[in-house]
Amino acid sequence: MDNNSFFELHNGVMIPAIGFGTWQVPDGEICYNAVANALRSGYRHIDTAKAYNNEKSVGRAVKDSGLRRDEIFITSKLPAEIKSYEGAWENFNKTLENLDTGYLDLYLIHAPWPWTEIGKDCTKENISVWKAMEEIYQSGRCRAIGVSNFNIKDLNAIMDNGQIKPMANQIKYYIGNTQEEITDFCMKNDILVEGYSPLATGKILGNGHIKEIAEKYRTTLPKICIRYVLQKGVLPLPKSVTPERIQQNFDINFTISGEDMKYLDSLKETVVPR
Ligand SMILES: NC(=O)c1ccc[n+]([C@@H]2O[C@H](COP(=O)([O-])OP(=O)(O)OC[C@H]3O[C@@H](n4cnc5c(N)ncnc54)[C@H](OP(=O)(O)O)[C@@H]3O)[C@@H](O)[C@H]2O)c1
Repeated sequence: MDNNSFFELHNGVMIPAIGFGTWQVPDGEICYNAVANALRSGYRHIDTAKAYNNEKSVGRAVKDSGLRRDEIFITSKLPAEIKSYEGAWENFNKTLENLDTGYLDLYLIHAPWPWTEIGKDCTKENISVWKAMEEIYQSGRCRAIGVSNFNIKDLNAIMDNGQIKPMANQIKYYIGNTQEEITDFCMKNDILVEGYSPLATGKILGNGHIKEIAEKYRTTLPKICIRYVLQKGVLPLPKSVTPERIQQNFDINFTISGEDMKYLDSLKETVVPR
């Protein structure tokens, strides 16, 4: 796998193997420039969400890029607090209006519970929302559907009650935080795992153990972190608003040896200081 590779979703849709994250990227020029820089650097996959309040700028940068729409893969997400069939449709329509890109490539339920009630059992509500997600997919206005932050129980509820299996689950994934149980479950069920916060939202950047590995490969710590995720079979979603970093994070065509992967696997929760 390298930065021009694709993962294949279980419905046959191809998704570029590195996505560009846009959480906490302010709408307007900052987001527009970040996405424009990412596309110039070679990224062909942009990850946004209605909750990030920057879909309009993402869409504008995509349209101005000079690339064909079908060369770019766009993901957005249904806000975590929307837990009704009608709400899902309404929000999807708003997202498409914001992006103004004609169609969406991947639409995810942002979380199984509202952010203000993490862990709340919304099984019944998620089943209703999933019905709308299936219809959105069947309408042809979105090429794939999935979830984010779902655990095994949340996924089983959707799979037992729905007609279409989610195509992806986007979860927090970085060296020392590899969420093995849910990752294995998804892989066994042919659900792509997308790894968000591959740099632990910046908190991993001072880690001495990873720095040593980076020095061994004459590369940088962020590149080791992103490459690690990809070599685990998980799709990394790095974010940056800094042009040099945007380029650097995409330039990960090297291989971490099996031995060094094992060492990085062993770091576990010591990686990010509390
Ligand atoms: N589904 C969900 O619930 C969820 C939750 C969180 C994130 N996500 C997705 O995953 C994406 C990435 O996660 P994240 O935003 O937490 O960030 P991240 O990629 O883990 O880390 C981003 C931070 O690292 C810095 N950085 C990036 N590249 C660097 C480099 N080469 N050298 C030094 N510093 C660097 C960035 O700074 P600058 O920007 O200042 O350069 C920023 O502070 C999000 O943007 C979003 O698309 C999804």
